[in-house]
Amino acid sequence: TGALWVSAADGRIADFDWQAIDDNAFRQLMEKQGWVDVDSQVNGHSAQQTKVKIVTASDDLNEFFFPGFIDTHIHAPQYPNAGLFGSSTLLDWLETYTFPVESGFGSQSDHKNGKFSPRDAPLLAQRVYDQVVARTLSHGTTCASYFATVHVPATNALAALCYTRGQRAFIGRVCMDNPDFCPTYYKDLSAADSLSATKSTIEYIHTLDPKGSLIKPIVTPRFVPTCSRPALEDLGKLAASYSPPLHIQTHISENKNEVALVKELFPECASYAAVYDEYKLLTPRTILAHAVHLTQDERALVRQRDAKISHCPASNSALGSGIAPVRAYIDEGVTVGLGTDVSGGYSPSILEAARQACLASRLLGHTADFQAETCTNSHPKSEGREKLSIEESLYLATRGGAAVVDMADDIGGFEQGMIWDTQLIQLGGVKEADRSPLDSALESSRGTGQSLVQPGPIGNVDLFGKETWEERIQKWVWNGDDRDVKSVWVGGKLVHSRG
Ligand code: GUN
Ligand code: FE
Repeated sequence: TGALWVSAADGRIADFDWQAIDDNAFRQLMEKQGWVDVDSQVNGHSAQQTKVKIVTASDDLNEFFFPGFIDTHIHAPQYPNAGLFGSSTLLDWLETYTFPVESGFGSQSDHKNGKFSPRDAPLLAQRVYDQVVARTLSHGTTCASYFATVHVPATNALAALCYTRGQRAFIGRVCMDNPDFCPTYYKDLSAADSLSATKSTIEYIHTLDPKGSLIKPIVTPRFVPTCSRPALEDLGKLAASYSPPLHIQTHISENKNEVALVKELFPECASYAAVYDEYKLLTPRTILAHAVHLTQDERALVRQRDAKISHCPASNSALGSGIAPVRAYIDEGVTVGLGTDVSGGYSPSILEAARQACLASRLLGHTADFQAETCTNSHPKSEGREKLSIEESLYLATRGGAAVVDMADDIGGFEQGMIWDTQLIQLGGVKEADRSPLDSALESSRGTGQSLVQPGPIGNVDLFGKETWEERIQKWVWNGDDRDVKSVWVGGKLVHSRG
């Protein structure tokens, strides 16, 4: 809670004052520092002069700023399936739910027929992608690493939508050419096709945003079973051919049957991680989603290559994939962020992912795998260390995610000079239906003229005015949702306001 001034020139934090100060004092301070003209507005959230935009959060309104959430793993075309998975597990889920929905986003030969433009994408793709971007922004996601589909025009449409709506994003055209695994109705036609279609999308994104200030391409081999050896080789080389090298995203060791399948398909490689390493796909700019069942050797390799991990706890529980040992990864020095993994994950909210990360970590100690490992590792079992706190989980949702997408100096926090990618949270108050005489009495005794009736999930309001910020944040993580997100900015630009 407090006030910040954000440079209108580059959307970065110019200065801030976390003390809650009254409007007059704030105005004087701003004038003294030469930030605003006497006639400019302070309360209207924008200075008339172009030097700065002023943003304030009010303690009385139960408001606070929070860094925008970073979703390090989300499948945009699977959004229509959010909440649909029955009791399937990964490999049958892909066949039953996922490939069918993704196949509707275009035709496999779109780019071969000269179709590259977002205008060539089916209406369905435009609609779904617009909904995904709007919905994730409304949940406070200011940066997302998206998997799209194999289709070039639809993938380019997703890039264009992120760009126009103002969401920071990595956009990946999904590569999947292995005919032994991919369905005939939904795949790249060949390894060469996989490469040329990927290049088309990269070129489109580089033309749209040459500096990559908002959107960037990301090389996306779907996962080992969907990719042929030549395709993996081409993609590794392609990423390395750029300066700086392109980002890469994929899945790893999500499910035990998947791990067994990879062993069968690539007997010459020592492990799942070793396949990616063999094809130069394990780099400091690689995001590995899930990483539930990595062996000790794979963990060492991931750390050695400085590849990053996207932890997707809601998805891992929904598809019964398992529980990733996040504390161990962090202890070993691996960089971890959070992913919703829509629609393996049922929710587009990173706040939900943070909550599920806490819950999964509390169950981890009860699993046989965990107990076996703690025994063999002969280090004294430190009771409960695997549990993540609220603060740690929120760290993964912001600063952790920023490090995963290689932007730790720019986003994920509020240091001076960082980019203003932020959500203004207003915790919910009592609902009109729950209003009691006590609430009216409390409102008048506070003398702020503010009603306790506010949009928001449940009675999050601090009735007796004694809750610490730590307590308010706990309530937010366990009970909050998009109704608490009042405004969202990316690069200093307002991109969402609660209606
Ligand atoms: N592995 C390969 N494709 C997918 C996918 O779409 N979602 C998840 N969760 N895992 C995958
Ligand atoms: Fe995924």
